[in-house]
Amino acid sequence: MSPETERCLTAGAVLLAYAAFCGFIVWRRRRRRVPGLSTLPSRQEPVLVAYASQTGFAEEIARRSAESLQAGGVPARLARLETLDADTLAVAGRAVFIVSTTGQGDAPDHAARFVRRVMGRKAALTGLDYGLLALGDSSYANYCAFGRQLDAWLQTQGATPLFDRVEVDDADGGALRHWQHHLGKITGTSETPDWAPARFAEWRLIERRRLNPGSPGGPAFHLALEPMEGGPKGGPEGGIEWQAGDIAEIGPRNAREALDRFPPYFLEALRDRRLPDDPAELAGLSPEQARGRQMPLPHREYSIASLPSEGRLELLVRQARHPDGRLGIGSGWLTEYAPMGSPIALRVRSNRSFHPPEDDRPMILIGNGTGIAGLRVHLKARAAVRRHLNWLVFGERTRAQDFFYRAEVEGWLADGVLARLDLAFSRDQEERLYVQDRLREAADTLREWTAEGAAIYVCGSLKGMSTGVHAALVAALGHEALEGLAEEGLYRRDVY
Ligand SMILES: Cc1cc2nc3c(=O)[nH]c(=O)nc-3n(C[C@H](O)[C@H](O)[C@H](O)COP(=O)(O)OP(=O)(O)OC[C@H]3O[C@@H](n4cnc5c(N)ncnc54)[C@H](O)[C@@H]3O)c2cc1C
Ligand SMILES: Cc1cc2nc3c(=O)[nH]c(=O)nc-3n(C[C@H](O)[C@H](O)[C@H](O)COP(=O)(O)O)c2cc1C
Repeated sequence: MSPETERCLTAGAVLLAYAAFCGFIVWRRRRRRVPGLSTLPSRQEPVLVAYASQTGFAEEIARRSAESLQAGGVPARLARLETLDADTLAVAGRAVFIVSTTGQGDAPDHAARFVRRVMGRKAALTGLDYGLLALGDSSYANYCAFGRQLDAWLQTQGATPLFDRVEVDDADGGALRHWQHHLGKITGTSETPDWAPARFAEWRLIERRRLNPGSPGGPAFHLALEPMEGGPKGGPEGGIEWQAGDIAEIGPRNAREALDRFPPYFLEALRDRRLPDDPAELAGLSPEQARGRQMPLPHREYSIASLPSEGRLELLVRQARHPDGRLGIGSGWLTEYAPMGSPIALRVRSNRSFHPPEDDRPMILIGNGTGIAGLRVHLKARAAVRRHLNWLVFGERTRAQDFFYRAEVEGWLADGVLARLDLAFSRDQEERLYVQDRLREAADTLREWTAEGAAIYVCGSLKGMSTGVHAALVAALGHEALEGLAEEGLYRRDVY
């Protein structure tokens, strides 16, 4: 297929997805019009959706973001950046900023007044929680410069990021899907179809093993997949390439037992579609019509835990459960419903912000729970090139059940791949202990390592762990020094 045709197909797919998305919003609205409830005012404060756009892309994404929030039941207010001032931001409560960079690292023209009048001064934004999407193009010298500048200013004024800044390189679909994931966290729903659906390849599930039987925490499974014949190609050995830090996007499917409630001729058509509660809703429809009517299941992201040279893609997936007992869409498919040997729809997303350091500087790797997946692959990459100045800080609940990849980690310590290992098993003693507590105890060593140029990588829970670790790093290194490390790409996080 020519690149031109491919581009047209992608653009068409995005438009189709968008039309489906609009349909979805209408459907949700209709569904929510329950008699007697529709007149109740919403108790939620609107989320401010502020944008700065030079050629319209950021504006378009801002509009879609506002619609996504509304579809998820969270009111949203769309505003151009220059219509805002410090007072509006101070009382907004929650905001998302979607801004592009133009010129040579400049703000879009219409935002110039905001930059001069608002960002040029101090503001009291301690009451503001925000998310930020920076649009740019890495072929320019000042990549995402305005988004980064706005992010730094907001934090200096005391605003709290809800999650790490998302940067979109040249309209990259993976980064946009990642942004949608964060919007889903704000609304507490994860059902909106992707704006830029991935084209998945098929991988075969070849291993699935629970790593923590008897754990007080949710079941966590080690999975291995290999490309199927005729599957992804392009790497040096004909397999797909990825780097430590990259993400596997999965296209989930429905459990066979859930599909068995429908007539057998719907099996193929509905395998990756949301299922109606009542099969009668599809009565009289052909499989194609039913497929067109039902929204696709959303994708899910998992940190890749292995290197391409191993010939298999490994994941560590925790089973999520809904309050009604159903398994999570993605984790349920991977850990329970997908039969062994069956094809899994998967696509690798490059995750530049968690790629390894380019030189042999020391690494401090900090994480909890399934976050070990994203750290393990870095340690494997470091072991392969004999870069041994690595310090792992890992935490989970109990040593007996939750010390994921224990033999490997202890082997790395014995072989010198790990220069230092700190573990925090929160439930193994009376008082709860977490990775951030280990970092506090080791503040002197942290200062020594960072003085030697160490890069800090954090992977795992956004809530609790990453904020606790951030506070411990600030306490040990100081706010400014940590900010400096982040600017130099020496403090990187992959938290979810
Ligand atoms: C960059 C990145 C890397 C990640 N890496 C990993 C990894 O290595 N390992 C890993 O296990 N996970 C990882 N995740 C998380 C993963 O992508 C999924 O979010 C996770 O598996 C849950 O998805 P799910 O589809 O199984 O559950 P969902 O169906 O999305 O449900 C998730 C949870 O949300 C709640 N929920 C959802 N809908 C509702 C509702 N309507 N009402 C009430 N509650 C609801 C439920 O409590 C449920 O437990 C990563 C995420 C990101 C963004
Ligand atoms: C004239 C011009 C200058 C640009 N300069 C930068 C830049 O310095 N840094 C960057 O990351 N992206 C730069 N970009 C890329 C844009 O940020 C990117 O295309 C973005 O998606 C545009 O969003 P918008 O349509 O909302 O302005 C530039 C684009 C153009 C057309």
